[in-house]
This record gives sequence, C-alpha cells and structure tokens, in this order.
Amino acid sequence: MSPVLLSKYDVAAPRYTSYPTVPYWTAEQPDAEVWLARVARACEVDREISLYIHLPFCESLCTYCGCNKHITKNHAVEMPYIEAVLKEWKMYRAALPGTPILRELHLGGGTPTFFYPDHLRRLLENILEDVKIPLGPQYSFEAHPNSTSKAHLQTLYDLNFRRVSIGVQDFDDELMRLVNRHQSVEEVIRCTEEARSIGYHSVNYDLIFGLPRQTPAHILRDAGYLETLRPDRIAFYSYAHVPWLKRSQTAYSEEDLPAGAAKRLLYETGRERFEAMGYREIGMDHFALPTDALSIALDHGSLHRNFMGYTSMRTRLMIGLGASAIGDTWDAFAQNEKTIAGYQLALDAGRLPLFRGHFLSTQDMRLRRHILRLMTTYHTDWFWPEEQDDSLAAALERLEPLADDGLVEIAPFRVRVTETGRPFLRNICMAFDAQFWARQPEGRLFSQAV
Ligand SMILES: C[S@@+](CC[C@H](N)C(=O)[O-])C[C@H]1O[C@@H](n2cnc3c(N)ncnc32)[C@H](O)[C@@H]1O
Repeated sequence: MSPVLLSKYDVAAPRYTSYPTVPYWTAEQPDAEVWLARVARACEVDREISLYIHLPFCESLCTYCGCNKHITKNHAVEMPYIEAVLKEWKMYRAALPGTPILRELHLGGGTPTFFYPDHLRRLLENILEDVKIPLGPQYSFEAHPNSTSKAHLQTLYDLNFRRVSIGVQDFDDELMRLVNRHQSVEEVIRCTEEARSIGYHSVNYDLIFGLPRQTPAHILRDAGYLETLRPDRIAFYSYAHVPWLKRSQTAYSEEDLPAGAAKRLLYETGRERFEAMGYREIGMDHFALPTDALSIALDHGSLHRNFMGYTSMRTRLMIGLGASAIGDTWDAFAQNEKTIAGYQLALDAGRLPLFRGHFLSTQDMRLRRHILRLMTTYHTDWFWPEEQDDSLAAALERLEPLADDGLVEIAPFRVRVTETGRPFLRNICMAFDAQFWARQPEGRLFSQAV
C-alpha cells in the first residue's frame, strides 16, 4: 500500500450508511402524518418489511464506543422502555396496510442482552403476533458475551432468531482493559458454542482495528482464535475516532491510536489472514465464508448497505423503533429522539418521537444509487440522459484526480473501483456526495477515511 496515497486520502469522510449523510438532512421535526404516509406507501409497494429495534442500555461504558447508549445497572428501566417501544410499534402498525411480512428484524444497541430474556420475549411476542413471518426470516441481534446467557440465546431462537452478532472487538484482555471493556476469551467461546448448539446458523464477530495500542501482533492473535472458532462472518470495523461527539474517547491518549499507514497495516494484516482462512472480503469492512448469506448476496448482486452496515437483502421499508433509531422508506429517512427521556415523553404524549429526517429529491435518489452500488459492487453505471445531470458530471470531474492515482477507471457510462482503490472506497463515494461539496458546516463531522 503506497504511503503517498494513504496520506493523501486520509481525510475526514462519511461511512455512507445513508445518502444524504445524517448531517445533511434537512427536515427538522418531520410531520408524523407525512412520514406515516410514506411508510404506508413503501409497505404497499413491497409487502416485506424490515424492523430495527434500538435497545440502548449497557451496564458499563466501553470508552471507544461510538453508538447511542445509556449506562446504568438499574434494570428497572427495562419495562418502561419496552412499553414505549410497543406504543411506537402500535402507531406504525395502525398505519401499515394489511398484514406486513416481517422479513428482517435486528436488535441493536447499546446492549440488547442487557434486557432479561423474559422482557425481550414480551417485546417480541407483541410485535410478532401482528405480522406474517416468512420462510427463512432474517432475524439477528447484537450479543455482548459477558451478558448473553443460554436463556437469551434460547428465548430468541424460539422467536425465529438464527443469526447472532457477538461483540468481540479484540481477544486481548490487556487491550480490552484499556478501553474499559469487561469480557474474557472464555465468554466469547462459551457464547459461540452455546449459539451453535442451540441451532443458530450464522455467527458474526465484531472486531475493531485501530484501537489504542493495537498492533499487527494483536490482529494475528485474533486471527488465530478465528481459525478455531470459525465465525460465519466478521465485521472488521475501522475504529472511528470522534471525541468531539463521544467524550469517553478522550479517556486514552491520541498518541496511542494507530493512524495512517500503521492503522492500514492492521487492516491488511487481518485481510491477508482472513482470506487465507477462506473468508471473502465484502465491501468495505466485512468478511464472510462462501456459505454465508453475505457472500451469496455478493455473487447474486443483492448485497445492500444500510444504517447497520452490510446486509444480504433489502426491503423498501425499514422501520426503526427505540431511542435514536432511524427509519427508511427509500424516498425518506426519519430519526427518533436520541435521549431515552425525550423518546419516552413523546410516546407518553401519544406522538411519534421523530426529531429529524430527510425527504429525498430526485437528485438525492440518483446519487444514492451510485454510492450504494460502489459500496456493494465496486462499480456503478448509468444511461445516456443521466450524464446530462450536473451532479453526475461534477462527480466525474471530481473523480479525475482519483483516476490519475489509479483508484478508479472511468469509462463511458461506467466507473469501476480498482484493486488499489478499494481501501479508498469512502473517498471515491465522496465524489458523488453533492450535498457535501455544496455546503461544509463549521466543525468536524466525520471520522478519518483510513
Ligand atoms: C452498537 S455496538 C453494540 C455491541 C454490544 N453492545 C457489545 O458491546 O457487544 C455494535 C458494534 O459497533 C462497533 N463499534 C462501536 N464503537 C465503534 C467505534 N468507535 N469505531 C468502530 N466500531 C465501533 C463495535 O464493534 C460494536 O460491537
């Protein structure tokens, strides 16, 4: 990997889990009726829907964490939160035509396994009684190994969950202590083995590269564990350092953070080992065994990327329930109140807890398609009239220096990311980000691309 390219393209860049990216959304407090009408229309077009439920509590703070969470050891918070989520679901359910088919369901956090298994069952039974469950539903949850009991795994399995995503981050105890994460290798192994013995057919591990004091030796050690435990998927996330948003990231010294070429070496070390073990690289930061749904989706051209990262399928409608959750009707986005108090207050007052959103213009939709295709297939194309669109012409002009550096090949009606360009996928997508080039607000918005 050329150090010149690495330093040239190591700029702040979005991860493109949506386009436009959240800082560029324009609707403050979207009107609930207008939003619900979009939700209903998306469900009419495509009867299959996805649901994301945000469960924000954690018992202790992992200082690297960039997610929306609330730290407490008080489990009395569980039931009021579940009641609020169910109220929110009832509002959506009343707006949906007919009985929707719940194709995809994901519990994210925070720590979903903070909740008692019986409380999770109560939440999910109430939702599932009101939808059709298709053959082969894609239901998954994020599991912190230190709080995921056999009862959690069994309860969710009985409710059709077949995929579990285990937060590993790194197998080294010392590194985990530095970021205040309490878990042991034994717990990761136990959780993996219990999930498999119950019948889960896809186990994902979340790993992060770029953690404080992490070296290639740590990554090689992680790969050693993966060789024996053989998760079906690996999310190999680039550590996002955003201390202006997440104060807990100031708990360690920036000098301890691998940056630039040193950080990229961590990724390359992992990639080489994972590929040698039979994993395939998927998009930007995922690896999967050839038998896993992500790999199959890559071959079938149905790979998708949304707020949760890469997924193996896409429904037109994704409803987000819970504090800070984001919904997507394909032509609009809406996000819920981020604080738990604000979220619960809105629902107590009988209103949807929306606080910001965005209604996509025709240009947004076109650019979103290009960014999504680049992120999932490493190329994009278009027909002749679209080339007349100023935003595409501007994107191609911005790509010229990247083509000179060998990151992309630009041909008539087509752009392709080269092998050299893959590490710079975020930079390449930025060329298509008309919103970003039109207006760059004061202050820092995104983490570094490398
Ligand atoms: C929403 S978190 C929840 C996981 C669960 N609470 C746990 O700790 O096991 C999902 C994943 O996001 C990733 N993540 C969190 N903060 C990150 C950061 N600053 N940079 C990169 N990845 C991060 C971690 O890999 C984590 O497992």
